[in-house]
Order: sequence, then C-alpha cells, then structure tokens
Amino acid sequence: MRRTKIADILQNGVVGEDFLVKGWVRTRRGSKQVNFIALNDGSVIHNLQIVADVEIFGEELLRRATTGASLAVTGKLNASQGAGQNVEMVAEKLEVIGDCDPNEYPLQPKKHSLEFLREKAHLRFRTSTFSAVARVRHAMIFAVHNFFTSKGFVNIHTPIITASDAEGAGEMFQVTTLDLDNVPKTEAGKIDFSRDFFGKATNLTVSGQLEGELAAMGLADIYTFGPTFRAENSNTTRHLAEFWMIEPEMAFYDLNDNMDLAEEFLKYLIKYALEHCPDDLAFLSSRLMEEEQNKKAEDRSMELLEKLRFVLEDDFVRLTYSEAIEILKNSKPNKKGQFKYTIEGYGADLQSEHERFLVEKHFKKPVVLTDYPKEIKAFYMKLNEDNKTVRAMDVLFPQIGEIIGGSQREENHEKLLARMAEMDIPSEEMWWYLDTRKFGAVPHSGFGLGFERLMLFVTGMGNIRDVIAFPRTPKNAEF
Ligand code: 4AD
Ligand code: MG
Repeated sequence: MRRTKIADILQNGVVGEDFLVKGWVRTRRGSKQVNFIALNDGSVIHNLQIVADVEIFGEELLRRATTGASLAVTGKLNASQGAGQNVEMVAEKLEVIGDCDPNEYPLQPKKHSLEFLREKAHLRFRTSTFSAVARVRHAMIFAVHNFFTSKGFVNIHTPIITASDAEGAGEMFQVTTLDLDNVPKTEAGKIDFSRDFFGKATNLTVSGQLEGELAAMGLADIYTFGPTFRAENSNTTRHLAEFWMIEPEMAFYDLNDNMDLAEEFLKYLIKYALEHCPDDLAFLSSRLMEEEQNKKAEDRSMELLEKLRFVLEDDFVRLTYSEAIEILKNSKPNKKGQFKYTIEGYGADLQSEHERFLVEKHFKKPVVLTDYPKEIKAFYMKLNEDNKTVRAMDVLFPQIGEIIGGSQREENHEKLLARMAEMDIPSEEMWWYLDTRKFGAVPHSGFGLGFERLMLFVTGMGNIRDVIAFPRTPKNAEF
C-alpha cells in the first residue's frame, strides 16, 4: 500500500477505507486496553489520532511510540467521537520506524517557549507553530510568483556575489579567497584584491536592484526574489543578516504607479494567505490569543485574522515625509506624552516607534510615506524639483513598521552622476549602471519587500527569528 499524507486523509478520506500513514508521534495516552497516538506528518496542522488496541500490538511495542518517534501505521478510517476531529484511524499494522529516547529528546509533549525552540532549530520543524509558519511561508512564496506571473513580469536571478554596494550603506559581508594569515598588500599598504579570486573586492549582495534595473531596461517588468545580506549589527526583532527580498522593477512607472503596485501586491499576498492557509492561520491566531491574554488590555493587539482583513478593507494612506514629521511633532504617543526617541524634526530618519505610531494610533491604516529628504535615502532615487527631497516611498505596516522601501529612480545621466559625486560613490566602477541612462533611458521605479517582514505580519509572530528556518543574526550561525 502507498503512503497517504494526513492532509489528504483529513480532506478526502472516506470512513471505512484503509490507509498507510507515516509520521512522528506528538503524544501518546491511553489505558491498559487501548492507546491513542497523535501522529503528525507535517502536511497539515492537525494530528491524526491512531487508535491502537493493546492486546493486538502489545505494551512493549506501544511503549516505543514516545513523543518524537517515527511510525508507519496501516489502518481503517473511523468516524471519531473525539472533540476537534471527525475521523481517527484504527490501527491494523503498526511499526516503529525510528525510536526516540525520551531521556535525550529535548521536545516534550507540552508547549515550549519560542526562545527555547530557537536553540533547538534543528528540531523545531516538528512543532505545530513552526510547521504552520513554514507552510504559510511556502504559500507566500508561491503567491509572489503567481502575482507577478499574472501581470507578465519576468523573474530575474541577480547575482549573490557582487562588486557593488547597491544601497551605499557599507553594510556588506566581504567574499574573499585570500589567505587571511598572509594577505597580499599593495605598495600603498592596502589589501591587494587584484590577487583575489575575481581580481577585485567582492561582497554578498545587499540588494538585487541595480541588476534588476538593467533587466527592466529591456524586459520592462521584472522582479527578483533572492537572498539578501546585511552586516548591520542590529539585534532587533525586525532585522536579519540574511533575509529574502522581492524586488520588482518597472520601466515607464512613476512613483504613483509604484505605490499602486505595492499596495495591490501586499493586499494580494494577504488575501492569498487567508484563502489558502485557513487552518494554519487559525492555529497561529489562537496561539497569539493565548499570548495576548497575559498582556494588559491596552497593550493587546488585534486578533490576527481581524488584523489581516483590516489591511484589505481601505486604501493605504499616502502622505509626505514632511507631513508625517508635523503629525509626529504634535502627537502624544503615551501617557507621559513622549516618544522613546524624540523627533529631531525635518531631516531625521524615523524610528520604527514613530512609524508604528502613525499606522497603529494616528491613521489606523497602512501608510505610505513619500518624498524623504535626500540625505537619508540612497543615491539612485529621483530628485524632486525642490532639490531637497527624493521620490522615495516607504510602506509602513501595523506591528512591523517599514515593510517595503522603494522609489522612482533617477534616469537623468547628469543628475545621477552629480548625486553619486555628492555621496562619494565611485562612478567609474558603475559604468554599466550609468550606461542605461545614456541609451534610451526611461522613467522607471521599483521597490523591495522584506519577505520575513511580510511573514511576521501574516503569521502574527513577534520575532523575525521565528519566521525563517535558520536565522542569521549577530553571533548566531550555529545551524
Ligand atoms: O529599504 P531597503 O534597504 O531597500 C532596498 O534594498 C532597495 N534596493 C529596494 C528597491 O527599491 N528595490 O530594503 C527593502 C526592504 C525593507 O523595507 C525591509 O522590509 C527589508 O527589505 N529589510 C530587511 N528585512 C530583514 N532584515 C533586514 N536587515 C532588512 N533590511 C531591509
Ligand atoms: Mg528602507
């Protein structure tokens, strides 16, 4: 008999039919006559209850069905009286595939803290929370490709090893094959990268945007979806050193077109999750409710599914950075009437505390902030007529803060060169980027969605380390 996945059985299984299932034991309980084993195979949040007659299988075998052990069970599907399940399987054959010593196995048949599970990242796929997050993550990956495919965008794989710093922020991981104990030096005493593998200094990409722009200048509408690396030493619940970013880039789009696409995209993804992951989201939502119970009423956040639907209801608010600063300066965020970080006034970058205030307290809707001062944004953004601000857009979400960053790009060759000079960005090495401003340049725009920030929002998880299988953060690359 061929194995059937538990998801299929729960969806399509007919009572009275025989099935073979394989999976891992979550719990076992029972009496001298009968054992109930909750089996999970990762295909669905629910366990399949296996009913095993002690007389048939013997206590010795059933005692090996400890939490974490893997089993193969053949049996007949039966209507179940148990709460929360319609069917169960009455075992006819039961085999332990792999034993699991309960004295050594770190996972107990109880709820573990997320912190504890982070230390057991090699085993946390076996838990309800992480398997639910992983399935939702998979659905979101699929939805990203669906969305862009339906719009005729072409997916581009941009390089992971590159010689350019797309964001000009200098937060790069270097890639080298030089012998660190014996680094070749130039006459001026600098590291001689001409003797390195690529003949020049290289790093892991901080963004696929620059290469994406090249592709958009021929294919018109493209998107990337790739790993992104930032050596920013920030230990927060919103930052990873290795994260995944989706970067669409569109020829002939201005900033308004760009905002329209970003809003449509985010709404599509959230709607997709609600439609395709109802069981996992219901589980994650109930998990969150338990956590919220322990908080003071005023600190409790909205119920997860309610929060997701809420984003779909209205248009996002669009306003300029200057307007946002005015609102923040005149706001009293807490009982003391203060922000943790004061608003420095025009010119300062916003802290996520400020972003979340605008979204959660002031507008109570997602917000798109535009036209930031050029000093706090990247070199490639199109300068406005005021010569002070750039056509940037940040999409701010409840619970997250910045979920998307994007802009209309500077397509004017002279203006771009001037900006690069102003910001000390070596233009000789970027000749290939500058070329696109000489040969049939067109207005174009794009943005980057941080995939794990999206995942935080959709799953309601509070820490970015819990929405990626193997988080890379400062001092953490164990698994
Ligand atoms: O705002 P960022 O730095 O923009 C860019 O990289 C542009 N090249 C995008 C573009 O226009 N094509 O990053 C974009 C998004 C952020 O809004 C955030 O969601 C996410 O990437 N992000 C991070 N996510 C997790 N960990 C980090 N360290 C992140 N840094 C940025
Ligand atoms: Mg940004």
